[in-house]
Amino acid sequence: MREGRASRTAEHNALFRALESSLPESRRLFDDPLARAFLAWPLSLAARLGGAPGFRDFVPWFIDHRWPGVRTSVVARTRLIDDVIADSLHEQIEQFVILGAGFDSRAYRLPGLRSIPVFEVDHPDTQAVKRRALERVLPVSPEQVRFVASDFTRRDLESSMAAAGFRDSAHTFILWEGVTNYLTEDAVDTTLRWCSRASAGSLLLFTYVHTDILTRPDAFVGTKRLFAVLEKVGERFSFGIDPSQLGEFLSRRGLTLVSDLGAAEYRERYFHEAARRMQGHEFYRVVLARVGPSAIPRSSSSLSAMSGGRKVPPEPL
Ligand SMILES: C[S@@+](CC[C@H](N)C(=O)[O-])C[C@H]1O[C@@H](n2cnc3c(N)ncnc32)[C@H](O)[C@@H]1O
Repeated sequence: MREGRASRTAEHNALFRALESSLPESRRLFDDPLARAFLAWPLSLAARLGGAPGFRDFVPWFIDHRWPGVRTSVVARTRLIDDVIADSLHEQIEQFVILGAGFDSRAYRLPGLRSIPVFEVDHPDTQAVKRRALERVLPVSPEQVRFVASDFTRRDLESSMAAAGFRDSAHTFILWEGVTNYLTEDAVDTTLRWCSRASAGSLLLFTYVHTDILTRPDAFVGTKRLFAVLEKVGERFSFGIDPSQLGEFLSRRGLTLVSDLGAAEYRERYFHEAARRMQGHEFYRVVLARVGPSAIPRSSSSLSAMSGGRKVPPEPL
């Protein structure tokens, strides 16, 4: 990230969500009415164009043509994560944490998150921009949302979360979307170890990139242009995981793998036939894990939105 300014990749995601929200109800995967409020020029212009009837399909088409797979992957995973959260609420989640929240608006748009504390944790530079935008568009700030400004490289998550009222003993859902790939291995490790201190059975959903994108970028569609943009905005990919090592990676940190899905899988789930024509970003993965040595939930819960991924069968008690 560039010192003193909000994450640009967070803004890209907000643009993709704003464009999706401009589609007619019958065609869109979700409605994120706040997404547009987080955009600065020139992305605000792209969102406005995408909202005009003649350009609704052109703007997404242009983005997909220039940077294959990025937008469709973000849109499908946004819906996937919304669905996992909806599933998870059946198991009485008591608090929700969004690490590296960026311009995620789930605290304001998902009804299930209105009655529990939601901790929005982010780099101070991004969070300041988000809070200013929220002040402009939300007449009343929701009481349940607590903002925690924290830099994952500073190892201060434990103290800042405790100060914000995070309860170690509460059944928790921790979401860490779109962040690990921009961090150092040490920052990912420290943060996951903090997650693993949540109460046993708590849920952690995070995204990561296949480590091959770091070592063999040319093997993937569209990487050259993608990397050029990331370089320009100062947010390079710096961390990845080999999916075949994921279970072991998590268990060393006190976490148990529940399911792991790649972009081709979650795109197919939501875009159906059209997903066959969507290439690029297949290295971007969504993983669901539980805190503790077993994947058994504390009450019966199916979390069916993540089914179909590489699943680890629950261990017997
Ligand atoms: C691609 S955005 C993802 C935002 C959001 N979770 C989403 O999916 O749209 C990356 C986020 O990670 C945050 N981030 C990057 N490096 C960070 C760090 N060292 N400490 C805290 N947050 C960081 C940025 O501020 C930004 O909000």
